[in-house]
Amino acid sequence: MSTHTAIFDRWIRSAFPQINSELEQLYWQQDDKANVEGLGEPLKQQLKDEGNALISNLLAEGNTDEGFDSAFDLLGNVGLFMAACRRHEITEPSRETTSPLVEASALAMHIGASIGVTPRFATAHLTTHNKALNGTYKRFTNLPDEKLFIDYNTQGILAYKRASDALLKILPLGISHPTCAELLKVAKQALIDVIESNNALYTQLDTERFFNCVRPYYKPHRVGNEIYRGANAGDFAGINVIDMLLGLCSANEPSYSQMLVDKFLYMMPEDQQILREAMRMQSFMDDFLQAQQYKDNDWFKYHAKLFIQVCKLHGDTAIGHHNQLVEKFIAQPSKQMQQQHMSKVTASGPPLHVLLDSLEKLRDKRASAKRDDIKTRYDDINLLKQWIK
Ligand code: HEM
Repeated sequence: MSTHTAIFDRWIRSAFPQINSELEQLYWQQDDKANVEGLGEPLKQQLKDEGNALISNLLAEGNTDEGFDSAFDLLGNVGLFMAACRRHEITEPSRETTSPLVEASALAMHIGASIGVTPRFATAHLTTHNKALNGTYKRFTNLPDEKLFIDYNTQGILAYKRASDALLKILPLGISHPTCAELLKVAKQALIDVIESNNALYTQLDTERFFNCVRPYYKPHRVGNEIYRGANAGDFAGINVIDMLLGLCSANEPSYSQMLVDKFLYMMPEDQQILREAMRMQSFMDDFLQAQQYKDNDWFKYHAKLFIQVCKLHGDTAIGHHNQLVEKFIAQPSKQMQQQHMSKVTASGPPLHVLLDSLEKLRDKRASAKRDDIKTRYDDINLLKQWIK
């Protein structure tokens, strides 16, 4: 790590969360907690000046080519700074046509383009690729609510990844291989872990704190001329690998492939590669349906039963995400929010009802729900169930 990179990293781990936390405290004392205007101006100035000065040094240093990991890590640090400036409305994408953070934008675009990811902080920077020093990893604030949110996001993502890794291992073996059963059991357990972790987040996270002091750091913001959507816990390949390998969602459906195209650059390059490969694979659902001639064999009955259980659990994770997490922590508080702040509610930009509608469709595909307006595997799952009765 170069000296300038190390100094910036130290700042991101010390003064940065301190300033953000002090600002959060000021906003929190207001009746209208969503307002950030006219408060803590010296703190905002300090954040901007210190961040810009440290980044100018890095920009002058140029590309020191210290490998992917350190480039990705540095991009995360620049990204955290830019996202915090957006949160405190030091920048505001509808107010500007280009980011006023000129040096930070230049550095982020340089690194992002050179390693093949978006030039902003991504979920991986805060969750799966966030190095802890003496037990503390990088965060925006010192608030326990943010730590709770990131801890459970990391757990959920890692559990989804365990499920997706197990399913990927079935591909070269085939659905009739005896080991397929063991791998489906691993996937089942991993999805149960997702559900348990999301349930814990649901009961422990404070809605008002999350909505007012954590979520605003995930807003869209400009880097250079472009607006980049906020990070969300879904920005990793595993969730879509599970969708497609099970056959619950398909890469040739326009709305689903649109989502995949939009999220590619928000994922780590290794995840991009995995997702690309998964988009070309035939699903296990289709494998089972095409193996109808074996439906009375023991292996078929055993493996198809486990497969149906995995599908059910995957649907349950999506139902929990939508009906519990999104409903309690986004939809409900949004309704109470003053109209003037409404355009700023979601991380990804579209109006809330559009976002909720697309998440609902995704939930119903994953749950193989009966719907007439979109394609789900409701009939196919029922057919498999009949075969193994
Ligand atoms: C996407 C809300 C936690 C998995 C989203 C989106 C919202 C949302 C609103 C839509 C995109 C956006 O606005 O940027 C929440 C809330 C959470 C939470 C309020 C907790 C307080 C989690 C956790 C996971 C997760 C713990 C587990 C890994 C996903 C996935 C997506 C997503 C996979 C992408 C869309 C999809 O494929 O379903 N989330 N989320 N979320 N979230 Fe969460």
